[in-house]
Amino acid sequence: MADRPAFPKDFLWGASTSAYQIEGGAGADGRAPGIWDSFCRLKGRVDNGDSGDVACDHYHRMPEDVDLMATLGLQAYRFSVSWPRVLPRGRGAPNGKGLDFYDRLIDRLLEKGIEPWLCLYHWDLPQALQDLGGWTVRDSAGWYADYAALCARRYGDRVKRWATFNEFSVFTLFGWAFGWGAPSIADRAAHLKAIHHVNLAHGAGVDTLRALVPDASIGAVHSVQPMRPATGRPEDVEAAALFDEHWNRAFPEPQLLAHYPPRIAQAIEPYVQPGDMARIARPVDWFGLNHYAPVYGQKDDSLIWGFGFGAPPPEMERTAIDWPFDPGCFRDTLLDLTRRYRLPIYVTENGYGTKADETPDAEGRVMDGDRLAYLQAYIAAMAEAKAQGADVRGYFVWSLLDNFEWGGGYGTRFGIVRVDFTTQARIPKESARWYAELIRGA
Ligand code: NOJ
Repeated sequence: MADRPAFPKDFLWGASTSAYQIEGGAGADGRAPGIWDSFCRLKGRVDNGDSGDVACDHYHRMPEDVDLMATLGLQAYRFSVSWPRVLPRGRGAPNGKGLDFYDRLIDRLLEKGIEPWLCLYHWDLPQALQDLGGWTVRDSAGWYADYAALCARRYGDRVKRWATFNEFSVFTLFGWAFGWGAPSIADRAAHLKAIHHVNLAHGAGVDTLRALVPDASIGAVHSVQPMRPATGRPEDVEAAALFDEHWNRAFPEPQLLAHYPPRIAQAIEPYVQPGDMARIARPVDWFGLNHYAPVYGQKDDSLIWGFGFGAPPPEMERTAIDWPFDPGCFRDTLLDLTRRYRLPIYVTENGYGTKADETPDAEGRVMDGDRLAYLQAYIAAMAEAKAQGADVRGYFVWSLLDNFEWGGGYGTRFGIVRVDFTTQARIPKESARWYAELIRGA
C-alpha cells in the first residue's frame, strides 16, 4: 500500500474494548449489577432504552472473538475486567466463575500470540459500593486496591501490561458533575471528592500492582481532547480554561507532576490530606492516550461548574457523529504530551463513530469508507508526530466491535467489525481489512 506510513517494527498495533460495552451476560454466573446496569434502567437516559444486558454477548462468544482478532493480525488487545463480575459485592468474596472467564480470555489471547492489556476500571463500579457512597468515600481507594490485588494475584503470571483506570476525567465529569452517565449525580462536592479519591485509588493500585507483579508495565489511560474556547468572549475563555483543567489535567497532573491544576487545587483542598499527593504520584511506565477530537468549551450556567460544550466553528470538518475531524490536533497532542510528561505514549483509543448501521452490500461487504479515511488520516498524523519526536509506541483502535456506546446505546457504532445485534453475526468492515493489511505490512 503506497500510503502506508512508516512505523518501526516493534510499534504495537491493537484494538480496545471494555467489559460493560461488549460482554453482556449481565446476570450470568454470579455477576452482580454495576452502576451502569442501574443507570440503564432509568427511563430516558440511554438512547432507545438500550442496556449492556446482552451487548455483543462476548461473555459467551469470547473464543470466536479472539479468533477474529487473530485473523486480523492484532498484536495486542486492551480489555477491561468487570469488577462486579469478579467481586459481586465489590469487596469480600470473589466470584470464581467470573474470575475463570478472564483466565480463559487471557489464555486464548496468549495462545494466539496477542498480548493482553488489562484495564482494571472502565466505568462499571459495583452497585454495592455505590450504595456505600462509591468514589465520594475515601475508603474507595482501599476497595479498589483490594480489587487490584485480586486481579494481580490471579492474572499477573500471564498479564504484564496493566492500566489502572480508563478515562478518569470523563467518567467523573459525566457521572458526578454533568449527571449524564452513571451514577447520575450533579454535585460539586461529590465531584471533587470523586476526583481526589479516584486519584488516590490510582496511586494505591500502582503500588499494589508493583508489589504483586514485579515485572509489570503499568500505566493509566487518559482522555486528552485539547480544549478550545467556543468564542473569544472572556467568559467563554475562562469557562473553557476551567473545563480544560477538569477534562485534560485533573488526573495526569497529580499523577505525574504531583499537583492539581490551579483552579481545581483551590476547590479540592478540603478533601486533600497531608501526604496525599505523594500517594497519588506513583511512578508509572507509560501514558495511555485516548484521543478523538478537540472540544469547544463555553460558559453554561445550566451545569454545576458553569462550563459546558459549545459548537465547533462551522467551517470545521466533522465526523458522522458530529465530532470535529482534526488529525493535526492528534499530532500536536502527541507532541505536547511527550514534552509535558516525558513518558512513552500508547494510543489506547482512537476511532470513528457513526449513527447509521453500516449494512452489508450485495457481496456481503461492509463499506465504511469514512471510518477508513479517518483512520488513515489519524495514523498518518501519528507518524508525523513520531517523526517530529513524539514518543508514541503503539496504537489501539476503538473499537474491535460495534458495541454499547454508553448514552448512545447501540445506535452509535465505533467497530471495525460490524455486529448484527439480532443475530450476533460479526463481519469485518472494510476498515478492518485495511487495518489488518497495515499491521501485516508494518
Ligand atoms: C471513550 C471510552 O473510553 C469508550 O468507552 C467509548 O466507547 C469511546 N471513547 C467512544 O466514545
